[in-house]
Amino acid sequence: MSFYNPPIENRNPEEHLLMDFNESPLPPPPKLIAKIAAFLNKHIHYYPIYGDLLERLGEYAKVPTENLLLTNGSDQAIDVILRCLLESSEEVAMVQPGFAMFQQVAGTLGCQVVGPQFPEDFDFPHEELKESVNRRTRLIVVINPNNPTGTSVSVEQIEDLLKTFPDIPILVDEAYYEFSGQTCVSLLSSYPNLIIIRTFSKALALPSLRLGYVIAQPDFILQLLKIRGPYDVNLVAVLAAREQLNHPGHWQKVVRHLMDESKPALEKYFGERQVKYYSSTANFLLVEPQNVAEVSEFLKENKILVRTMNPPIAHTFRMSLRMMPEMQHFMEVYSRYLNT
Ligand SMILES: Cc1ncc(COP(=O)(O)O)c(C=O)c1O
Repeated sequence: MSFYNPPIENRNPEEHLLMDFNESPLPPPPKLIAKIAAFLNKHIHYYPIYGDLLERLGEYAKVPTENLLLTNGSDQAIDVILRCLLESSEEVAMVQPGFAMFQQVAGTLGCQVVGPQFPEDFDFPHEELKESVNRRTRLIVVINPNNPTGTSVSVEQIEDLLKTFPDIPILVDEAYYEFSGQTCVSLLSSYPNLIIIRTFSKALALPSLRLGYVIAQPDFILQLLKIRGPYDVNLVAVLAAREQLNHPGHWQKVVRHLMDESKPALEKYFGERQVKYYSSTANFLLVEPQNVAEVSEFLKENKILVRTMNPPIAHTFRMSLRMMPEMQHFMEVYSRYLNT
């Protein structure tokens, strides 16, 4: 197998308008940066002391602390969960295409990710996913909303999976929860096979600090603790996360701006020009232009980076939402492309 190598090296925030990694368009407030600077000045030579972050996170996620595990990005959540559950030759059922880390980690364990493809309209193929479950299936993964298609899955559909397969763990990846507003946390007390993962990398704007978390039954969290190292989560991430949870005004405003202003403006723009896009409940859109290679090259020449996709959706690109002035710049450049 090859390593997971996202096209990140040649991007430059000083030079490019970055619409390729679903990041927040704005950094956290200066107060947060000042807290980190104060910490760096004094404390980096000590091992991390995590303090009350789990309590704060419990209030935020509306679960007791024993249901929570912090991880080094939700990438590590995927890693520890799959390592905990899977043995060689077992299968993960997941609709494809989904987030690539699942394939990557499953591959290192000698396991395969199988499951139906999204249909042409990218609606969630609920029945087909159920049909793909077989005696080798050791885990079902639902990414809600899905990256890269933006597809959302209803709580009812997730509950149906939990009921239909009570003996199979079901991992729901809610990386984009703050944008979609949809969560299945309320199902946790009724379905012991439910595992949820989330991240501070998207709406909470801390991807370079690497912080994610698992929400699951306390006995499963105890198993995961055997795999995750005691200091895998760095303290700068924890300080920043606490600050973001204690002062949510800034990032929540950005989320509302993206979802209530940037997204409708972009959809209107594409709609009026017959550029095909797919509906999304996340901070990105999947777009299907007439000629994806040409468009993405034109955008790149104009210092705008979007993410072109691999087969079977190589005819699309994914673009992250940004604040309105940047969206307007994107639309101006796109219009120049359409008029060429
Ligand atoms: C669906 C999904 N899950 C998980 C992740 C991993 O995020 P991180 O490791 O930064 O928490 C991403 C990142 O793009 C994602 O799109």
